Amino acid sequence: MKHKIIVTGGCGYIGSHTVIALMENDFEVIILDDLSNSNEQILDRITKITGRKPEFVKVDLKDLDHVHNVFGHFRDADAVIHFAAHKAVSESVQEPLKYYQNNLYSLINTLISQQENGIHNIIFSSSATVYGNPDTLPITEKNKTQRPFSPYGNTKKIAEEILEDVVLVSPDFSAISLRYFNPIGAHESGQIGEFPNGIPNNLMPYITQTAAGVREKLMVFGNDYPTKDGTPIRDYIHVVDLAEAHVLALKRLLNKEQESQLEIFNLGTGDGYSVLEVIQSFESVTGSKLNFEITGRRDGDVPKLFASTDLAKEKLGWSANRKLDEMISSSWKWEQNLREELI
Ligand code: UFG
Repeated sequence: MKHKIIVTGGCGYIGSHTVIALMENDFEVIILDDLSNSNEQILDRITKITGRKPEFVKVDLKDLDHVHNVFGHFRDADAVIHFAAHKAVSESVQEPLKYYQNNLYSLINTLISQQENGIHNIIFSSSATVYGNPDTLPITEKNKTQRPFSPYGNTKKIAEEILEDVVLVSPDFSAISLRYFNPIGAHESGQIGEFPNGIPNNLMPYITQTAAGVREKLMVFGNDYPTKDGTPIRDYIHVVDLAEAHVLALKRLLNKEQESQLEIFNLGTGDGYSVLEVIQSFESVTGSKLNFEITGRRDGDVPKLFASTDLAKEKLGWSANRKLDEMISSSWKWEQNLREELI
């Protein structure tokens, strides 16, 4: 019997790549998504890549009655992977309640529906943003968390605290929280990738859209940070590596290999690249010049973030395989396909 996994937000960027990895590992997947920041076409593309169609239910996770009902249909599911969330940092600063309402109600309703239907395992999609501006690098899971700079980030921190409290009173319940560093890249087929709503906040989609002529110029937010070239350093990680980590975390849950009811793992490569290094790498991978300009710092950016990857390696047996040039070339391939096919 195949294990059944409910994937909330499975039509989104990281969700869709994880659905593919799950299906390739012979899991049966049920996607729950409200399509607020994704497209139903993704389902056909997943089918094309994997040869199977995942089950899909359109559901707004803020609606407890509906969520409860849907979970009732899938009470034989073995676990939930919870991706569904709004994720635009700057929008969250403008509309904090939208973020607290959506991201926290969605998690709470998912947890209530899991408990009522006896689905005891959850993997939560968290973020390195919970470390704030870290005192020491590389960041290990033992680094203190700090209040994140944005309401979006704070929803991730509060969500982890909710999980902490829930496992305390639910002896059967197990959770793994995965703290992503900077996911970029796309599936090697060029069929699945990141499709930001409106003007991208993040560096890589902004770069590829600029190179594709959708945006005029990339603004580099500050070159006066205490780093080698003055631009901030991040730990960019290929989304397919990230997806594979979810499969291993899931197997750990299902095989009951956990050492505590809530485990936390960083998912990064351990390598840090500056914004200018990413631009140079993009130019050398694609052979084209990128139009960019140095401008002032962006509020809330920290100088340096990169992960210690030791714990994920030791406990999950996972480490990232794909290098920066592969992340960039797959992002670029996806961007070019997107312009040709979807627009
Ligand atoms: N950057 C630019 N110009 C842009 C966009 C980004 O110079 O147009 C720079 C930023 O200043 C930063 C770097 O590129 O130095 C990376 O920025 P991203 O927005 O791509 O990523 P962040 O590190 O700011 O944010 C990411 C995730 C968030 C998460 C955060 C946690 O997108 O979801 O990491 O650290 F909260």
